This record gives sequence, structure tokens and C-alpha cells, in this order.
Amino acid sequence: MTEIVLNEPLDMHLHLRDGKMLQSVAPLSAYSFSGGLIMPNLIPPITDIDMLHSYRDRIKQAIGDEKFLPYMTLFFKSNYDRDFLASVSDEITAIKLYPAGITTNSEGGVQGFDIDELSPTLGAMSDLGIPLCIHGESSGFVMDREKEFIPIYESLARAFPNLKIVMEHITTANSVEALDRYENLYATITLHHLLITLDDVAGGMLQPHLFCKPIAKRPEDREALRRVAFEAHPKVMFGSDSAPHPQNAKEAPGCAAGVFTAPIALPALVTLFEEYGALDNLQRFVSDNAKAIYGINPPTKAVTLTKELMKVPQKYGEVVPMYAGEELSWSISSINY
Ligand code: NCD
Ligand code: ZN
Repeated sequence: MTEIVLNEPLDMHLHLRDGKMLQSVAPLSAYSFSGGLIMPNLIPPITDIDMLHSYRDRIKQAIGDEKFLPYMTLFFKSNYDRDFLASVSDEITAIKLYPAGITTNSEGGVQGFDIDELSPTLGAMSDLGIPLCIHGESSGFVMDREKEFIPIYESLARAFPNLKIVMEHITTANSVEALDRYENLYATITLHHLLITLDDVAGGMLQPHLFCKPIAKRPEDREALRRVAFEAHPKVMFGSDSAPHPQNAKEAPGCAAGVFTAPIALPALVTLFEEYGALDNLQRFVSDNAKAIYGINPPTKAVTLTKELMKVPQKYGEVVPMYAGEELSWSISSINY
């Protein structure tokens, strides 16, 4: 095959940032995707409707004429008022929960996991049909954090059987197994976790541009992720977790966590899915599953990729992308609306 068309590709976990960074990265996602689930971890995080509206306006302004729908999220708080959530439920696609301090700009997240304490917000979300997205990591040893969080996913899934819970950017075989144990658990998988293991990050010279949370894991974990992504398991969907940081924040002592993949995501996914004979399932992984899980109907956009080399730029503005300076076998050749 030398050409593939992806209809309404969706990026269901996307960091667009704000200010100058937003201006530089938002058009890159808006060019190739039809929509994206926009993460709320700004400083300060998005916790009320005025902040959400003005952030959405800034995103729309940054993407200009591109046809791209930002699906907005609020930053989880355990004491959201039910009436407030009812009044905003049409304008938000999900609420994103971060354990406090676990990743970039998550200081205002949840401390400890007392389900009773979280219940007012979770109960209202369940009743109103607002999905809950979770950055599922404990504060334990870095390689075990996601595994240690699984019992929390399971108690939440049991306590709120009608609440859709999305395990964000899963990285382990244990998470893949948990998916099938509870009807209301779903997951996003990133591009970079399908491609790399911890060896690529720290096995040789340290690679700051591949350092992210959750950290890439073992080969057998990547294998489990690949299996469900390549078969487009109906409970998994693509979420890049594209998380731009300026070069000087990555190539520094105290390297910021996040891999920037937005502009290479589709060419790299096609390259990978082709290599593993899974191209026929890419449409479902990168769009159809997310549409069904979130019940969304994104703007029409047909992205054609052809088997021609994409030379990945060294930088997009201040940000070094994954695969900077390297070549991918596929590139985007046209976009039709
Ligand atoms: C993300 C960021 O930079 O906002 N970083 C990351 O390593 N993935 C936050 C997140 O999703 O954890
Ligand atoms: Zn993220």
C-alpha cells in the first residue's frame, strides 16, 4: 500500500499550553487532527467555566482557519458543585484527575485517594455522564507507579459503575489486563509508548526528549500495548500526550517531563502500523474507538498519507520533537474537508 486515508483523526490526550507556546503548537495538531481532548494543566489549572471559555477562545484564535475541534476538560476537584457540573456538562468532554504533584503542573491535584472524599464530584459526573480521565500513578518507585495505581482504578470502577473512566497514557501490561476486567474502564495509548522502552530513554546516553510521565517501561509492557493498539481493541484509543516544553527546559538538570509528538504523530503511527501489518486497524485506533467511547462527532477531515519520506525538523519553534532530524517512511500529502 502506498496511500492511506484517515478520516477524522482524533488525539484524545493533548497538551496545547498557553501564550506563545500555544500559538506555536496548536496549528500543528489542528492541521492533521480533526479534534483533540485538551488537557487542563495550565498554571493555574482550568477549574471554572470562565477560564475554560477563555482558554477555548485562545485555542481557536491560535488555530485560525484550521478545522479542528478542541474538546475541553476541567481539572478535577473533589468539591465541584453538582449544579455547576450540570450547567457545564454540555461544554466539557471530560474531567481530568491528577494525583497531586505527580507530573507537570499537577500540584493542585488530589492528595491521597479517599473515595468518600472524591464522591461528591464523581457521583455528579456519573449521573451527568461526564467521563473521568485519570493520570494513574502512585507516588511509589517510578517503575511501579502505574501498577500500584490499578487497585484505585478498580475501586473507582466498582464504586461508580456508570462512570466512564479513562486510564490515561497506559504503559504497562497490568493496565492492559485491567481494561477487560471492568466494563467502564477505557484507556488512551501514546505514540511514544508504542515505540520506546526505558532503554531508549536511559539505556545509553540519557535522552531528555524521550523523558515523560509515566516513564516508558519494559519490552513486555510495550508488547502488551502494541497488541491492543494494533488490534484496535474497542476500549483503547489514541492520545498522543504530546507535551511540549522549550528546549532549555528539557536539556537541563531537572529535565521537564513530556515528549512532543503532535506534528509527527500520524506519519509515525502509519509507519509503525504498517511495519506490524496493522494498517487496516489504524482508523479505529485513531478515531472510531474514541468517537464511540466519548460519543463525539468531530468535524469531517480526511487526511491522506503517502509513502514518501517525512524529514522531521530539528525544532518547531522552541521545541524539539521526537525523531528530530530523522526520517519517517510516511508523510501527510493532503487534507480534505
Ligand atoms: C505532561 C505535561 O508536560 O504536561 N507531561 C508528561 O510527561 N506526560 C503531563 C502528563 O500528562 O503527565
Ligand atoms: Zn498528559
